[in-house]
Amino acid sequence: MPSVHERDVIRTIRRVKDPDSDKDLISLGRVKELTVRGGEVAFKVLVDPARPLSETVLKDLRVMLEELDGVEKVAISVQQQAGVASGPAKRPAPAQPIPGVDHVLAVASGKGGVGKSTVAVNLALAMAAEGYRVGILDADIYGPSLPTMMGLKGVQPVVVEKRIQPIEKYGVRVMSLGFLVEEDTPMVWRGPMVHSAVTQFLREVDWGRIDWLVVDMPPGTGDAHLTLTQGVPLDGAVIVTTPQDIALIDARKGLRMFDKVGTRVVGIVENMGTFVCPDCGAEHEIFSRGGGRATAERYGVPFLGTIPLHQDVAPSGDGGDPIVHSRPDSPIAARFREIARRILSGA
Ligand SMILES: Nc1ncnc2c1ncn2[C@@H]1O[C@H](COP(=O)(O)OP(=O)(O)OP(=O)(O)O)[C@@H](O)[C@H]1O
Ligand SMILES: [Mg+2]
Repeated sequence: MPSVHERDVIRTIRRVKDPDSDKDLISLGRVKELTVRGGEVAFKVLVDPARPLSETVLKDLRVMLEELDGVEKVAISVQQQAGVASGPAKRPAPAQPIPGVDHVLAVASGKGGVGKSTVAVNLALAMAAEGYRVGILDADIYGPSLPTMMGLKGVQPVVVEKRIQPIEKYGVRVMSLGFLVEEDTPMVWRGPMVHSAVTQFLREVDWGRIDWLVVDMPPGTGDAHLTLTQGVPLDGAVIVTTPQDIALIDARKGLRMFDKVGTRVVGIVENMGTFVCPDCGAEHEIFSRGGGRATAERYGVPFLGTIPLHQDVAPSGDGGDPIVHSRPDSPIAARFREIARRILSGA
């Protein structure tokens, strides 16, 4: 029986742009109830009656899908819904660029504790090792961990001409909300406060000229997170997940959230996906196989790679000297550099 992969269908639909906003129909959240069974593709397209999609757009989409290998039948139904034409409603004005910063990359996860900060820090160091000027910002106001991970606990940044100077460490410029709050301060900040704190903070930092700013986002996909995402001018987001189902479900929520705000997901990194045996060095699969890769394929985003669970990762991070810096010749550091290269080359 002929069959087509859902990923290829999603990719094809993504090639069709809404003429008003120049964003694709999937990023705009206008494709619903997509099913791909064997060679049969079916979905709904939401259309604003006030600004209907032209007949040719839908016709082109049908022809493109019919031309895919394995597709036998395409059923597109159109549903009228007011206010969908320009994408997610009430989106605030686009975030202002940060002076001196070329690209901003968010490292995010739906679920906490999956190794987001570990990945953010090591990717930043790996990008610097590739010769780029890199900054790293800890936007995790609930649990800033960069001061610990970068060996900068208790460090106070200086202010020059009203601008906060990042701290240079291991060849990257570091800024953390953790520098500005006491470790035991209760963080009862609500969403809008977090938003204004981070966006204001971001502009008061004197980054100088940098190629990449890596942002360690707080975990979650709730409203506070969404607001934060919109306040920072992101060029792309990397989603970190572990292979367990519960983390993957949250990773999917993260994918949908970035889709909703129109931020490109650069790809998925699976952390602690395998286990490296300390005695023999062999790499074993301990959880369900390839969950991160399968999720990436399902949503049509690149799979950037797996970082194994390894006994050297935690002590180096928790001890303030991340593995890409402390053990640059280790296989784990090589994995981080591979992933960084994939991101730098546009994944
Ligand atoms: N690949 C790995 N191998 C071994 N330990 C790891 C690995 N990745 C992360 N860890 C350890 O797991 C713990 C959680 O990692 P990390 O703080 O990076 O997660 P996080 O997602 O940023 O958490 P939070 O949601 O609290 O911000 C840390 O102690 C870290 O050193
Ligand atoms: Mg963290």
